[in-house]
Amino acid sequence: MSLELDERRVAMLMEMNLKVWSAAPAGQPPESRLAEPAEPGARMQPQAVIAARGETAPAAREETSPAPRAPISLQPLPAGIATMDWAALEQAVAGCRACALCGSRKNTVFGVGSQRADWLVVGEAPGENEDLAGEPFVGQAGKLLDNMLKAIGLSRQGDAAQGAYVANVLKCRPPANRNPLPEEVTQCEPYLRRQVELLQPKIILALGRFAVQSLLQSNEPIGKLRGRVHEYHGVPVIVSYHPAYLLRSLPEKAKAWADLCMALEVMQRRA
Ligand code: URA
Repeated sequence: MSLELDERRVAMLMEMNLKVWSAAPAGQPPESRLAEPAEPGARMQPQAVIAARGETAPAAREETSPAPRAPISLQPLPAGIATMDWAALEQAVAGCRACALCGSRKNTVFGVGSQRADWLVVGEAPGENEDLAGEPFVGQAGKLLDNMLKAIGLSRQGDAAQGAYVANVLKCRPPANRNPLPEEVTQCEPYLRRQVELLQPKIILALGRFAVQSLLQSNEPIGKLRGRVHEYHGVPVIVSYHPAYLLRSLPEKAKAWADLCMALEVMQRRA
């Protein structure tokens, strides 16, 4: 694919707010009102979520003792993840009780896309919308992600070279959109690893610092890791910013565009 500004790319630059024409699309809310994290990999803290939704924080409660929480019964990760097929793996995730997130989730979020997709996109963890829908990236960040993918000819519905399978590091929502804990990332890693083995993607896009933590075992900032090709079990990995962060940060949108171009070049070289 050439790197000229064709229609799709122009659409993506527009979507990413890299204005190729001066007028912003009518009716689009200002970015500051979008309920998305402020820093790469950072999720909103509960008060920020309330503020971003235009709600007021609940008044201090009267002196009543909090309702007792039912104890969460945890179990080890299911045995045999490394040999599971897609159906067994999805079932194992749905029934997983290996960490405390199982006590607060509404749904597990396994992943979505063709099992023959060449591209794997890895985000961090389900948010409130994803927890309700049982599907990754269904909010504002997901819309941006879909438009970015569309600009390079990919979609969740596409197959092979046009297909992007979308999954998260964590399969359950951290309460109040807090950051994933390191032990949660470690605990959930075998599921993602098996997804990679089953999918056999030709390339992985690691979006945000928790994807990087899980896939590359690195705590380096995204800015230091992007711009070169990494590897996860023999699969090339391109690191980029999380779409939720891109919704708020103009300079990083241009860099994310460069990251996508680099991923396309890697795919062209492989073809
Ligand atoms: N952010 C993520 O990383 N994943 C989702 O599924 C939604 C938001």
